[in-house]
Amino acid sequence: MAIKLKTDYLNGFVEDHEYSLIKSAVAAAHETLIEKGDPAEKPIGWMTLPVDYDKEEFDRIEAAAKKIQKSCDIFIAIGIGGSYLGARAAIEFVKGANYNAMKKETPDVYFAGNTIDPDALHDLLSLCEGKDICINVISKSGSTTEPAAAFRVFRELLEKKYGEAGAKERIFVTTDKKDVPGKLKHFAIEKGYETFVVPDDIGGRYSVLSAVGLLPIAVAGCDIKKMMQGAEKAMRDFSSTDIEKNDCYKYAAIRNLLLRKGYEIEMFVSYKPSFMYMNEWLKQLFGESEGKDKKGLFPASVIYSTDLHSMGQYLQDGRRIIFETVVDVLESNYSVKVPFDASNIDNLNFLADKDFHYVNKQALLGTLDAHVSGGVPNVVLELDKMDEENFGYTVYFFELACALSGYIGGVNPFNQPGVEVYKKNMFKLLGKPE
Ligand code: PA5
Repeated sequence: MAIKLKTDYLNGFVEDHEYSLIKSAVAAAHETLIEKGDPAEKPIGWMTLPVDYDKEEFDRIEAAAKKIQKSCDIFIAIGIGGSYLGARAAIEFVKGANYNAMKKETPDVYFAGNTIDPDALHDLLSLCEGKDICINVISKSGSTTEPAAAFRVFRELLEKKYGEAGAKERIFVTTDKKDVPGKLKHFAIEKGYETFVVPDDIGGRYSVLSAVGLLPIAVAGCDIKKMMQGAEKAMRDFSSTDIEKNDCYKYAAIRNLLLRKGYEIEMFVSYKPSFMYMNEWLKQLFGESEGKDKKGLFPASVIYSTDLHSMGQYLQDGRRIIFETVVDVLESNYSVKVPFDASNIDNLNFLADKDFHYVNKQALLGTLDAHVSGGVPNVVLELDKMDEENFGYTVYFFELACALSGYIGGVNPFNQPGVEVYKKNMFKLLGKPE
């Protein structure tokens, strides 16, 4: 498993001497990153999580996942932001975008508490009719409005369906470890729900490889041990502070160099629909980490070739403020070939017997050349394949790149003060008591 950075498509956009000139900023950012601080202010526990995660809790997660698999048709993970996107990204990355519709031994996994839309909630409640259900409410703070409101709805549903005692076996809570009266942890203990911990030293968007992501991911039948092994390998592969020996740090440096030249938007590109939620996770990771103090790259995403038929025109020919970060998955999990057709009405017989993976790759190569010649810098990250190990590896790569990149850009990559503003206004409009 590996991610390899290719800089061939940056020629003419980033010059060799610029890498030398940014080395000292990378070294300084690294020092700031590893400098010990108050874990609440500087949560860097994710950096060593692949080796020092709580093994006893990990076993409990695997046991809970088995129990859930046996006792329900539908598992609902209730959370938002960092308490939602990573698990969804992982399941789609490993099991495919149509996991729920596939024939399988494991429960369908749905996500709630990530919007306040009644129609979405209604649809999910309808899907639950006549089915056995388990739920996992995931909230570090335990007080985020969206998941808390959805938790009320599903807890009521479970208590009506199974009674208090039955519901207790089907409700799992992932939250802060401190038992404080009036908080979710305390409530869960009082009710007798099994609880899992969001570690103090890991912030929401860096938490997918903690219980936050691991329980839903394991319920879907993914091998979470392999994920941790992948993350551990990345931790070791990207330990050098020299950008010539560390593709992760070099990627972080390139993002900053391009931003300084006016490329304000980083477009994450994948040629695989099962990467779509990974893109969503990336947008949250980078957007919340870097977009502050009126600074930061704007993260956006596309799935090609579908979006070449919508956004492709802009990328090729619109304002030159975008660079692309293309995740090139080298190996597909399955092989499907283009059939020969005697009628050849579409003139595609020249592709007969060619694998779709091969055709997809030519689309990628052709697009790279087209966009680069149109003035769009392209960073290429070669990823071996989409499986559990590579998911863990990819998560670690981007988390590290994001934290380092934030410090190179002069922002704190671990807070999100801007998110509070909408909440304050919404609560005022809703008449929340002080
Ligand atoms: O990255 C973050 O910290 C946020 O996106 C949080 O994960 C999100 O706001 C949900 O918070 P909580 O887990 O406290 O409900």
